[in-house]
Amino acid sequence: MKIFNFTKDIDIYSMNECAECIRLGGTAIFPTETVYGIGANALNFKAVEKIFKAKGRPSDNPLIVHISDFNMLDQVVDMQKVTDTETILMKSFWPGPFTIILPKKSCVPDNVTARLETVGVRMPDNLVALELIRQAGVPIAAPSANISGKPSGTDVLDIIDEIGDRVDYIIDGGKTDVGIESTVVKLVEGKVKILRPGKITKEDIEAVVGKDNVILDGKIFKKAEAQEKVESPGMKHRHYAPDAKCVLVYSDNETILLDKIKELIVDNVDKLSKICVLGYNEHKEIINKYNIEDKIQYISVGSMEDLNEISKNIFSSLRKLDKIKPDICIIEGVAKRGLGIGIMNRLIRACEYNFIEL
Ligand code: TXA
Ligand code: MG
Repeated sequence: MKIFNFTKDIDIYSMNECAECIRLGGTAIFPTETVYGIGANALNFKAVEKIFKAKGRPSDNPLIVHISDFNMLDQVVDMQKVTDTETILMKSFWPGPFTIILPKKSCVPDNVTARLETVGVRMPDNLVALELIRQAGVPIAAPSANISGKPSGTDVLDIIDEIGDRVDYIIDGGKTDVGIESTVVKLVEGKVKILRPGKITKEDIEAVVGKDNVILDGKIFKKAEAQEKVESPGMKHRHYAPDAKCVLVYSDNETILLDKIKELIVDNVDKLSKICVLGYNEHKEIINKYNIEDKIQYISVGSMEDLNEISKNIFSSLRKLDKIKPDICIIEGVAKRGLGIGIMNRLIRACEYNFIEL
């Protein structure tokens, strides 16, 4: 494995080396604006196999294909079946944290799409990612850079620790900006269905296609059972989970929220030796007052006024838990509005649906 650091500048020779490796069937971890991806040539079955192996990813969970410009779409998508609405959506949100499920071309290997007739495509808004795809000259299939079931990688040091030795190249592009993965949508019976919420919100999409034309998938905050038919296979799998047992708590009323956290601490403190609270910067001092017998460790995820900051830090904060190894972690939620829907979708899964809403 070889690491390139492009946090300041892109070194064009190193980039070329990495792009050539991808084109010829190798793998590379690279930054996007959302999270890091672990990428391979999307048109090469064997190369894509390497991704599934590195991640330990179930083969029924399809990958997102990344392109660098609109001309590349034709390499993976059956363009004759693309509707005007889908075209408008791509033009509105690309490059950006937005994935759209489209009819696939037959040349796309079965393992990329988990044998579905559709392929998820996105054009990332990150210069390193765009340049890598452009130089490779092929679309790049890339899931998030983490072992399956673990929080997505947003920080290169975490990623090197976890799966660094399972790929040919790692490109360090600094901490990723958005922090949660792209919004995934599919056109279903004329409506835009959000299968995975993200930085591009329901309101953003409504502004393009009209208020009555966007729906949130029913499984965004709920568990999908193994046998259940779901629109996006990713919904069924264990996700984003740190090793620690976590409980998510949320109330619109700050006093009620803080009282509940205090109650959980007091109830558990005799039984447990280490409790983490993962919450807003603003609550650190208040919670630390309950630091009975030095058992509490507080992880600040960002200001309660700034959902972008919380989104950016959420996965690296969850990863800190695996280092601290508490007996339990209490996590403060956010309101399910705008980007908050995407954040809560990840947190509910990280807590394995252990959610107290007051
Ligand atoms: O921001 C992102 O999207 C990141 C970066 C690396 O681009 N990628 C990412 O990939 O999050 P991954 O594999 O972790 O998540 C892909 C999601 C899964 O939930 C999968 O089920 C869904 O997209 N998906 C992919 N292709 C699909 C398809 N044809 N139909 C329905 N869902 C699909
Ligand atoms: Mg993932």
